[in-house]
Amino acid sequence: MLLGVNIDHVATLRNARGGAEPSVTEAAKVAEANGATSITTHLREDRRHIKDEDVYALPKIMKTRLNLEMAMAEDIQRIALEVKPYSICLVPEKRQEVTTEGGLDVAGQLERVTEFIKPLLDAGIIVSLFIDPDENQVKASAKTGAQFIEMHTGTYSEAYGSENEEKEFLNLKNSAKLAQSLGLKVNAGHGLNYENVKRMHEIPGLVELNIGHSIISRAVFTGLGSAVKEMNDLIK
Ligand code: PXP
Repeated sequence: MLLGVNIDHVATLRNARGGAEPSVTEAAKVAEANGATSITTHLREDRRHIKDEDVYALPKIMKTRLNLEMAMAEDIQRIALEVKPYSICLVPEKRQEVTTEGGLDVAGQLERVTEFIKPLLDAGIIVSLFIDPDENQVKASAKTGAQFIEMHTGTYSEAYGSENEEKEFLNLKNSAKLAQSLGLKVNAGHGLNYENVKRMHEIPGLVELNIGHSIISRAVFTGLGSAVKEMNDLIK
C-alpha cells in the first residue's frame, strides 16, 4: 500500500497567524523525502486552509503526485484544469462542517457527477470519488467513468475498538471487493491513525491510503519526517 499525506493542516497552522510559516511546500518536500507517494490538499470553497497559490506552487516543487480534493464547484474545476494535478478526488462539502462529513452521494446525482468529471478526465487527470463503503454508491461510481474510488474510513475509524468495529470493517472490505470486480481501483482515507490503520492490510488490493490529521498531530511532537516515516512503515 502507498501513503498519500494530506498537508491541509500545515496550512491551518500557517493561516492561524496569516504569515508564511509553516510552509506547505516545505511540508510536501519533507513528506516526500520520508516515503509519501503522493501529497493531498483540499481546496475548500471557503479556502480555510489551502489557498489557490498553494495549489499552483506545489507541482513546481513536488517529485511525486499531487492529489487535489475538491467539491463539485466550477471555479475549483477551472483551477484543476489549469494546474492539472495527477489526480483529483471529488468530495462533498458543506461550509459549516469541521472536516468532510460522509461520502459523496454519487448514486443520487449520477448524471451530475458524470458530467462534472468529464472535462477533468478528458484533460488526462485521474478521477477518484470519495464515497461511503456502500453497495449502491460503489455501483454508481463504476458508471461515471472515474478510475478510482476512495472509501470513507471515518465510520470504521470511529467504531475502532468498539462492538461496531467488525461491521464497519466488513463494509470496507466488501465494498473494496465489489469495486475491484467492477474495474475500479480503490483508495481509502479519513480518520485513519497509527492504530486503526493496521487493519487496512486485511483488505486486498488497496492502492493508497490518504492520511492527514493523525500524521500532522504526531508531527507536533516528533517532527513531520519521523511522523510520515512511522506511518509509512506501518502500511508498506
Ligand atoms: N481523504 C479525504 C477525501 C478527506 O477529505 C480527508 C480529510 O481532508 C482525508 C482523506 C484525510 O483525513 P484525515 O485528516 O482524518 O486523515
